Amino acid sequence: MNLPPSDPNGVTRRGFFQLTLGWVAGSFAATATVAAAVRFLVPNVLFEPGQRFKAGKPDDYPDGSITFLEDERVYLVRKGNTFRCLSAVCTHLGCTVNRAGKGYHCPCHGSVFNDEGGVESGPAPRALTWYLVALSKDNRLLVDKGQNVSADKYLVI
Ligand code: FES
Repeated sequence: MNLPPSDPNGVTRRGFFQLTLGWVAGSFAATATVAAAVRFLVPNVLFEPGQRFKAGKPDDYPDGSITFLEDERVYLVRKGNTFRCLSAVCTHLGCTVNRAGKGYHCPCHGSVFNDEGGVESGPAPRALTWYLVALSKDNRLLVDKGQNVSADKYLVI
């Protein structure tokens, strides 16, 4: 019979291997636990684009114009020296509404909105959203899509 060699302290090679394996597994588990705890303390941050944007100079928009700003999915409405900004996002499922003669038309399911953004027909549950328009220090129109306003709120220049 072949016995495993042992050292004078009574630790066998198998015992040493098992002890080492135990320490490695224990260290791995402890490290994973600490890493999970640290990750739990770090909040999940969602980086979204800003809600405010500059829409150019007031003179960029002729009197009586309704201009679609594709990147922001809004209509900028100028009447005389007043400015308003209407969301082009349909309140049904979020398609972009098109200007159609008078009012706005959603190509997805056929909702129709009037010039004030109110629902004329279709599955849209509520009116289009108006956003706050202000004038920046460098005389640019500043639209804040984070602030909804009523349809009768204008920026007067
Ligand atoms: S997304 Fe506009 S009517 Fe459905």
